[in-house]
Amino acid sequence: MGITRDSKMIDKALIENSFEQAAETLGDITPLVYEQFFAQFPEAEELFNIKGPQFNADLKNKMVSDALYTFMEYLDTPEEVEIVFKYTIPQHVDLNIPMKYFTGLLSAVAQVVCDTTPDQDKAATSASWSALLAKFDALVVKYSTE
Ligand code: HEM
Repeated sequence: MGITRDSKMIDKALIENSFEQAAETLGDITPLVYEQFFAQFPEAEELFNIKGPQFNADLKNKMVSDALYTFMEYLDTPEEVEIVFKYTIPQHVDLNIPMKYFTGLLSAVAQVVCDTTPDQDKAATSASWSALLAKFDALVVKYSTE
């Protein structure tokens, strides 16, 4: 069918390298993710008390691990992420969690992971992450408005 005109390529190896780099240099990325997320959306802090304050930390951990899982899963099996988002996005909408926070948390995870990439790979890795986030933003739009 000729040469693809899609310049927004997701380079799986670069994304995977950034995950490895993040794990090596940061270990648990969760505290940095929320530092970044709440710097942008301080008012979103209370959303994590939605199940009761005793579940605040568990919920924070779970949403970051779910975000990481879906990013990794997308590289191999994007249709699996479609299935997850198809049920969980309406679930978040029903919980009155504005989608800007859902996408904001995805961006914060992506940023923290991408920031650990060494300089020589930074530009290409960052471009891949942008393309991946664009796919996720499109899924959020698709399943929050259906
Ligand atoms: C500010 C952002 C977010 C908040 C406040 C939030 C909050 C919640 C809450 C309250 C639940 C219901 C949990 C329960 O009933 O036990 C939930 C479920 C879920 N969330 Fe989030 N979420 C956020 C972002 C995300 C993101 C970015 C993802 C990415 C994949 C995600 C994935 C999921 C999944 C897969 C479930 C279903 C998990 C299950 O029922 O075990 N969430 N979320």
